[in-house]
Amino acid sequence: MAHTARPAEAGRTGRPTLAVVGATGAVGTVMLQILSQRADVWGEIRLIASPRSAGRKLAVRGEETEVVALTEEAFDGVDIALFDVPDEVAERWAPLAAARGAVVVDNSGAFRMDPDVPLVVPEVNPHAVRTRPRGIVANPNCTTLSMIVALGALHAEFGLRELVVSSYQAVSGAGHAGVRTLREQLSLVAGTELGTSPGDVRRAVGDNTGPFPEPVALNVVPWAGSLREDGWSSEEMKVRDESRKILGLPALPVAVTCVRVPVVTTHSLTVHARFEGEVTVDKAREILATAPGVVLFDNPAAGEFPTPADVVGTDPTWVGRVRRALDDPTALELFVCGDNLRKGAALNTAQIAELLVAER
Ligand SMILES: NC(=O)c1ccc[n+]([C@@H]2O[C@H](COP(=O)([O-])OP(=O)(O)OC[C@H]3O[C@@H](n4cnc5c(N)ncnc54)[C@H](OP(=O)(O)O)[C@@H]3O)[C@@H](O)[C@H]2O)c1
Repeated sequence: MAHTARPAEAGRTGRPTLAVVGATGAVGTVMLQILSQRADVWGEIRLIASPRSAGRKLAVRGEETEVVALTEEAFDGVDIALFDVPDEVAERWAPLAAARGAVVVDNSGAFRMDPDVPLVVPEVNPHAVRTRPRGIVANPNCTTLSMIVALGALHAEFGLRELVVSSYQAVSGAGHAGVRTLREQLSLVAGTELGTSPGDVRRAVGDNTGPFPEPVALNVVPWAGSLREDGWSSEEMKVRDESRKILGLPALPVAVTCVRVPVVTTHSLTVHARFEGEVTVDKAREILATAPGVVLFDNPAAGEFPTPADVVGTDPTWVGRVRRALDDPTALELFVCGDNLRKGAALNTAQIAELLVAER
């Protein structure tokens, strides 16, 4: 019997085929929501995850779609493949997908610093997407992405010279496991008087602290990622290296401290940015108020500044507390918030994929 295309399918004939690899994960889940919300430029959307998830059905564009296991054949006919999987899985499978003809947009850390892989933020360096000798485009880390759109706009006007950053990172930055851990710990400490003597929170939540080295409920943890040289964390090195690469400033001095806080989703950062010459708050506010992808929300007298509780689920980078440094007329102080699963991961990936479609 001849296959009769449903109206939605018929309208999609001739459009590129998209694969979402890691469709069941924290980033993958938000990716499916974003693909359902943005202009539909795709033909087939194929959902791929580990063999554990094969056969599960997930909704994308209002249609139930079956998840298939990651195999080389899963990339047959795929034009663009979005990878939202752990580093080691991306490292092995992204080149295989590229060899089968797909352009890969990878959300992991596997290729970001590869000189033959562009690291792209569409509002800051969209031109970089065109040069991709390995057939792979990398998506920056969520902490870098949560601030770089605002910084890129300020850099274009003032010329960035130095960056000092502290992050306040949400637990979903560590995937589903991070969210599960915070919620379990919160249920163990809720309604108690804990948090008043050394170690009482740790005893209540037990030894299993999930992906974090310390309890994260009722706490802040000055650590994200794994140990690198001289006491730096991998997350801190990513913010430094990736900011330099995206902004095209390979020698930019960057000092970073990454901290995990008991927030489900949305990373926040305090930023001290020093520029080439004197800056004014008025000019900085004008730039931030008009930069694409940035919302200036800055009226402390009225109690208005961005916080994760309000920013979560939104697309832009929110900026508040804009001040000129007290002791340096060339520097600005900012507080920045961005949803780490949307602009910090899935949204930026979707925007890169749309740049690739426009190129076709
Ligand atoms: N969370 C964030 O804020 C964030 C931001 C930017 C970038 N990233 C990066 O995005 C990637 C995904 O992160 P996440 O937070 O979404 O992680 P996650 O919640 O742990 O999800 C991991 C995904 O990868 C799949 N997967 C794991 N092992 C696999 C294998 N051997 N073969 C095929 N699929 C496999 C899982 O499928 P199953 O469900 O079948 O196991 C799941 O879909 C990571 O590289 C992460 O560093 C995360």
